[in-house]
Amino acid sequence: MKREAFTKLCHHVSLQGDTGLSKKILPVVQAYRTKQQCKKLPVIWIETNCSGDNNIAFMNTADPYVGEVFKAIIDLLYSNTFMAAQGKDALKLLNEAAKRYKHQFTLVVEGAIPIKDNGIYNVIARTENYRLTALEAVKWLGPLAKYVVALGTCGSFGGATAGRPNITGSVGVRDVLEREVINVSGCPVNPDWFVGTLSHLLMYGKPELDDLGRPVLFYGYTVHKHCQRRSYFDNGDFAKKLGDSECMFSQGCMGPRTGADCPYRQWINHVSWPVKVNTPCIGCTNEDFPDGSSPFFVPLPEKAKKRETKKRMNNGEGDEA
Ligand code: SF4
Ligand code: F3S
Repeated sequence: MKREAFTKLCHHVSLQGDTGLSKKILPVVQAYRTKQQCKKLPVIWIETNCSGDNNIAFMNTADPYVGEVFKAIIDLLYSNTFMAAQGKDALKLLNEAAKRYKHQFTLVVEGAIPIKDNGIYNVIARTENYRLTALEAVKWLGPLAKYVVALGTCGSFGGATAGRPNITGSVGVRDVLEREVINVSGCPVNPDWFVGTLSHLLMYGKPELDDLGRPVLFYGYTVHKHCQRRSYFDNGDFAKKLGDSECMFSQGCMGPRTGADCPYRQWINHVSWPVKVNTPCIGCTNEDFPDGSSPFFVPLPEKAKKRETKKRMNNGEGDEA
């Protein structure tokens, strides 16, 4: 399949409200690998500062099951969640994989990187006389990788981990590496965005990225553009409270400034998404999430004003506010 056809497939699946992209991708990758006689995409996946929500979202993909993705698309060389090895054995596998697949593997970093106090707030491996922080791991593995993928909004931009007051000094992967990082943001990520990006890397190399380093394939439009409540917005019909059926811009919806295809790709195996269940988009794929979205459920124009007021109150100027 040509790259253009793959791009169309991604959009077609979602726009038709069809079954999951992952399901459609599987035979495409299998056919590609047979034709090219190529192996699966070698992946080293490390988890750093985050809630682990992305691998849970990934595991929730039911069609295909996560095992089928491992079987057909990626060769998972290291992952502290999915591998059986533990302790020194796991560390040994990580070292071997980094050497053997140098400049061939894709490094997936799920989570932000704490840089305060030399990165001591996230240690991904420890033995009697050795300690590896997330910061050291990313600086070591990043330059050895063919591609670096930051998974989730924490990995991409810092996300909730870097939210105020950010006591660990957490930042996105792009801030500690002097190389390009592909950001697959979301809190959590939609499994299609992740599996689709990895498949693109395997078959066609780097996908087209937007100015935040995210694949245009999935983040090219705002949530607002295809929202089912868009006609209400255009007519100026706004919800008076959560639960009303009109546009939720009045309830703090961030859809107009959030790039993602949630309205048509949807979640939990493509059955629903926030606005469909009466919850405003809180902008979880954004560079400034969550601080830039807070306070949640407050209309966009008022958010900044409220944040400024809170800041002034925290600075002891409360009487004025
Ligand atoms: Fe746009 Fe949100 Fe209103 Fe949908 S609910 S039309 S995304 S502002
Ligand atoms: Fe996130 Fe908004 Fe989609 S909150 S899941 S980008 S609708």
